[in-house]
Amino acid sequence: MHDPTCGGDARTLPCAPATPGAFPRNAARRTGLRGLFILLFAATLPAQAETLARVASPGGTLAVTLESQHEGRLAYRIDRGSRPVIAPSRLGFLLGDGRLERNLELVGQSTRSFDETWEQPWGERRLVRNHYNELRASFAEKPHGGREQGRRFDVVFRVYDDGIGFRYEFPRQPALDEVRIRQELTEFAVARPATAWWIPAFEWNREEYLYARTPLSEVGTAQTPITLRSDDGLHISIHEAALVDYAGMNLARGGDGVLRAALTPGNDHSAAVVRTAPFNTPWRTILVGGRAGDLAESSLMLNLNEPNRIGDVSWFKPAKYVGVWWSLHLDEETWGTGPRHGATTANTKRYIDFAAANGFRGVLVEGWNPGWDGDWFANGWNFDFTRPTADFDLEGLAAYGAERGVHLIGHHETACAVSHYERQLPAALDLYARNGVDVVKTGYVCDAGDIQRQDKAGGPVIREWHEGQWMSNHHVRVLEAAAKRHIAINSHEPIKGTGLHRTWPNWVSREGARGMEFNAWATPPNPPEHEANLVFTRMLAGPMDFTPGIVSLKGRGGQQIESTLAKQLALYVVIYSPIQMVADLPEHYAEHPDAFQFIKDVAVDWEESHVLAGEVGDHVTFARKVRGGDEWFLGSVTDEEARIVEVPLSFLDPGRRYRAEIYRDGDRAHWKTAPFEFVRETREVRSSDRYTLKLAAGGGQAIRFVPVD
Ligand code: NOJ
Ligand code: CA
Repeated sequence: MHDPTCGGDARTLPCAPATPGAFPRNAARRTGLRGLFILLFAATLPAQAETLARVASPGGTLAVTLESQHEGRLAYRIDRGSRPVIAPSRLGFLLGDGRLERNLELVGQSTRSFDETWEQPWGERRLVRNHYNELRASFAEKPHGGREQGRRFDVVFRVYDDGIGFRYEFPRQPALDEVRIRQELTEFAVARPATAWWIPAFEWNREEYLYARTPLSEVGTAQTPITLRSDDGLHISIHEAALVDYAGMNLARGGDGVLRAALTPGNDHSAAVVRTAPFNTPWRTILVGGRAGDLAESSLMLNLNEPNRIGDVSWFKPAKYVGVWWSLHLDEETWGTGPRHGATTANTKRYIDFAAANGFRGVLVEGWNPGWDGDWFANGWNFDFTRPTADFDLEGLAAYGAERGVHLIGHHETACAVSHYERQLPAALDLYARNGVDVVKTGYVCDAGDIQRQDKAGGPVIREWHEGQWMSNHHVRVLEAAAKRHIAINSHEPIKGTGLHRTWPNWVSREGARGMEFNAWATPPNPPEHEANLVFTRMLAGPMDFTPGIVSLKGRGGQQIESTLAKQLALYVVIYSPIQMVADLPEHYAEHPDAFQFIKDVAVDWEESHVLAGEVGDHVTFARKVRGGDEWFLGSVTDEEARIVEVPLSFLDPGRRYRAEIYRDGDRAHWKTAPFEFVRETREVRSSDRYTLKLAAGGGQAIRFVPVD
């Protein structure tokens, strides 16, 4: 329902032209004489807020109100129907030449509606509807504090039925050329008590922390996306879209449910962001949904990014891949050269044969280049990306793969010597392009804040953050160089995803959370709830190279993975990426042919995706329809609790019969005591059926639906 506070138009609802100090016309109109008296009385109180403008979402679900507060400060508010979601929250900046937050005067406003459906080259859904109402409000500072010419900026809100995005836009202007942003003063005052799922910001291990579940009032400084569930059941997630040439935003807790923007610092700490006007900030995004699944189904973040700027990307093939990888994390083989070197010609041929025999397109090889010997973590400047080690015949292997329909996947681990990497980038990518390598995994292993930047060869090395402005630009430089050569990028230890894969559809995946590798060597490994956390937090930032499918369920030294076998299969459907690793060793798949069949069959590119059931951190069930085909896949995972989840099969085409190939936990399955208790069975179903998923503790279920008529 739309709220008619600012006029009768159901789409956009600008208020009466706002004069600072005046009352909104509509308020007086609605309140009558008694109300007018109250308003006049209130006018004598200095802290009165004045409504400047209001805009509702196309279906009227959400509304944003922009207010002018005491001393000409700005605030925005979000309501869902009659329920406040975000209480008045301030806007503004701490700039190098002083605060930009007071004495602000509205000098113009406009609204528009937009509705377009666009097609993704690959993704969780082929068609994406971008339907919003927009409010643009232009502000100028009144002369004050010796400043004769006020600075100007716009705030733009795009209001969707499932969330809002807003950003600041700085036009070209005489009073502001180079803009040094020390901090954004943007706040998110969550209007009701809530539980939060979050990981800490500014800690050494970047995004690789387990999700904490705490009351909102106990959040420290968090990375985004941060996901909240209000005590009365509303789901909210705060993040950002289109992080371009800007510092990543974290959120620091203030009092009373307020989260404050905390930009990732720049290298000299005097400014997080340095830009020249005109420029825009990233969009600050707030998803709001009744169900947890609403968050995971939203396309708001993609919609707030610019369209594809690299043209046809049909050369990128969503696909599964294997690799010389898990063996390294198990410490059975090594990245460095020597008797246990993984990236040898013979060993890679074994993986190519395995990929070819099972229909997997890619073979990742790590440790193929010089620089890994010794302490590579500390010596990124030793990496050479332009030639292989002596025992790795890159050209011969590329040809061997090509004959079998298999492509090598490249690997560029920088160990954070990022300038050193950039200098080699053109030659490194040329080498790969010549050898048919069209996906490259990049890596930035080092402590947060220890990225090494050297602007001139031989010059000083300065430190940057993984999520800072300089790295946001570095990733775009890599994408641009790669796109020219028809190469896709999968970044590990990346900057967070903000939907830029719409603009750069060769940015196909990334890490940016604790992936499967933690089950190889971390104590404790990922807990059973981990993936049910990821879906509603990290995954809202875009595809993740989680690397599922460890059917042996064992890490280094035999440490048990906290998952059943069936859950490893479900992860292919639950954790979205257009490139999915078949991460275990070939010999382990040979021991589990039944489970392996699902991994061979499961698709990686989708026509549509739906969340059938789910609660943050507890469980989630997805149904996805393969792109360009008739099959559907279902994946369901639970946390440490066994549970029964009943779902309708109404996503299936009505009138058709399907063979459901079911891979489920056995009746006695439990991640700890009976992880391999596993049943593969088939059954005929149709769209009018309901289906009962029985999930073991730490378990899951995967289903392939094949039409039989
Ligand atoms: C960390 C990555 O996440 C992992 O996949 C890779 O094997 C190592 N770095 C080495 O580059
Ligand atoms: Ca990692």
